[in-house]
Amino acid sequence: MAKILVTGGLGFIGSHSVVELQNEGFEVSIIDDLSNSSLSVLDGISKITGKVPNFHQFDLKDKSKVQTFFKANQDIKGIVHFAASKAVGDSVKQPLAYYENNVNPLIYLLQEAARLEQVSFIFSSSCTVYGQADILPITETAPIQTASSPYGSTKQIGETITRDTCERHTNVKAIALRYFNPIGAHKSAYIGELPIGTPQNLVPFITQTAIGIQKELAVFGNDYPTADGTCVRDYIHVVDLAKAHVTALQHLLNSKQSSHYDVFNIGTGQGRSVLEIITTFENVSNKTLPYTIVNRRSGDVASAYADTTKANTKLGWTATLPLHDAIQSAWKWQQKIVNK
Ligand code: WQD
Repeated sequence: MAKILVTGGLGFIGSHSVVELQNEGFEVSIIDDLSNSSLSVLDGISKITGKVPNFHQFDLKDKSKVQTFFKANQDIKGIVHFAASKAVGDSVKQPLAYYENNVNPLIYLLQEAARLEQVSFIFSSSCTVYGQADILPITETAPIQTASSPYGSTKQIGETITRDTCERHTNVKAIALRYFNPIGAHKSAYIGELPIGTPQNLVPFITQTAIGIQKELAVFGNDYPTADGTCVRDYIHVVDLAKAHVTALQHLLNSKQSSHYDVFNIGTGQGRSVLEIITTFENVSNKTLPYTIVNRRSGDVASAYADTTKANTKLGWTATLPLHDAIQSAWKWQQKIVNK
């Protein structure tokens, strides 16, 4: 079966995608610098699939190391590029570090991809590129607004770089997947989200509050123009998101894509408010979650959820796992790693 490179393959979405790629019979090589993950994730992956991925630990900002890797791996047929920094707030504090880490490695990978005979490339993008869309649900033709953070800019620039590369180097075919909000963990609880320090994202903060690591959840604003005043997002089970990568890759490998480059929203198509997530968690865990309403967080949009028609029809992919399962798996994972 084809050999696939997964960068950032020990990260949250990367590790779940490696599992699904191995389940489909692909041979997986991971490059990860362990800056936002741990070697224990490799054990978690192999416990689930029974197969140990090839693992290479180095920083993709080191161009010579990227070149050396590809010299020894000319048989790569697909590249799934996750490796990037992803904390919106952090990107505002250190924009140049974000541009260096999220753009340079993409360029080095695409330079090597262009040298291969034929390769399929999946770029990890984000619904952040839309900013606050004027029309909901959001389709792929929604205007790309000025990014509200350097992180969002790196995703917009990344899509442009990938698209322009494929237009020029027709041996490279690519798909950008614009994720909405990934949550949850593999049902085995062998892999999941490992936030470093205080979680920025809602669901890991909820589970850490419920298990006593955090004192209470701060809900960032309840004065938005939404049904209950709290922000609405499209929360997708990370396993559904991982499977979308396999489907997108197979779509390219089987030459189902006539164009050199395409973009797909990956979400459930359903918007849920912060308060709805809290209620779902309380029902799943049978615990009362302590929270207070505080001021809005800068950079948040009121509402963002996907129109997934294009992925459903063109890719043949649809999210299947319900919100309850995603929240339940996040809670099971948190209880497993309680003091990590
Ligand atoms: C969700 C909602 C918060 C924490 C970001 C990135 C996106 C992707 C996912 C990388 C918002 C509210 C949160 C808390 C809260 N990351 N919230 N209290 O901001 O939609 O998306 O993470 O790809 O690109 O932009 O996700 O989980 O941070 O927030 O009230 O302690 O929960 O205000 O409305 P977000 P999030």
